[in-house]
Amino acid sequence: MLNECLEGLITDPSGIYVDGTLGNGGHSAAILERLASEGRLIGFDRDVDAIKRVKNNLKTKMGKRVDLVHDNYANMAERLDQLGVGKVTGILLDLGVSSFQLDLPERGFSFMHDGPIDMRMDQSCGQTAGELVNTGSEQELADIIFRYGEERSSRRIAKAIVAARAKVRVETTAQLAGIVECAKGGRRGKRTHPATKTFQALRMAVNDELASIEHVLETMAGRVTEGGRMVVLTFHSLEDRLVKQFFNRHVPREESLQQGGVRRHFEEPPVKWIWKKPLTASDEEQRINPRSRSAKLRVVEVGA
Ligand SMILES: C[S@@+](CC[C@H](N)C(=O)[O-])C[C@H]1O[C@@H](n2cnc3c(N)ncnc32)[C@H](O)[C@@H]1O
Repeated sequence: MLNECLEGLITDPSGIYVDGTLGNGGHSAAILERLASEGRLIGFDRDVDAIKRVKNNLKTKMGKRVDLVHDNYANMAERLDQLGVGKVTGILLDLGVSSFQLDLPERGFSFMHDGPIDMRMDQSCGQTAGELVNTGSEQELADIIFRYGEERSSRRIAKAIVAARAKVRVETTAQLAGIVECAKGGRRGKRTHPATKTFQALRMAVNDELASIEHVLETMAGRVTEGGRMVVLTFHSLEDRLVKQFFNRHVPREESLQQGGVRRHFEEPPVKWIWKKPLTASDEEQRINPRSRSAKLRVVEVGA
């Protein structure tokens, strides 16, 4: 949905755009191609490897127009203050993990590759998923797996993890995937691996992902110029719900008054949906990129 993201985002080629999730730099490269020489791009990623990679990949396209910031996008407002940037024309958030992170065994995001259970996007701070798995209480683990993974077998899985770690520390993604698979009674011919939801839940917990999304939306909606856009691509129903509910609170609603007038209700700033329903990937895109099966693209314009 690259083209749809760009069409949703870019309203003024000379504007200031923020890519909150640089990843491999694909969206940023495409944004830069569409910007005029006065346009500016500021990119964020909390993964220092992404910053290094994008710096390298965008070398030829980078000039004074690009700033790369190694930080959580939750801190976007403060970091823009430091750069002397007030309002921006558009913000893009392509949530979740990058293919680069998923495919590196040593990052520990995936049960497809055996590695240490790390899962931190920013490896310079915070608790690893391995530490959580080995020290969290059974109740805490069950709650995380249920809340962020929407996994019905959360209690059974948490119990199995606690029983397994009593014998030997759970060090690797393969070990963890095996414990979850066993607790869920095997694959039973299912297309998705039984550990998918548990891995996703642990990742969301150690990176405090929902809180970061909520914070960036709350602090940045008021920093988008009138007519500017906020574009959010989600891959998880909890993320999508949060984004939808946040923007819905900002969509003005009119209430008729008895005296004949109307009253508008909304949280500042007012926004309007560009598409009433989220865009999803075409069948063709889903075939080429299976990850896009769960993608939902939402776009709002600020200042309705
Ligand atoms: C799906 S990828 C983005 C891919 C990117 N749009 C591209 O074209 O390559 C998500 C990226 O966002 C980063 N990320 C996730 N949550 C973040 C946060 N709270 N703050 C900053 N970066 C974050 C991840 O480290 C990852 O590199």
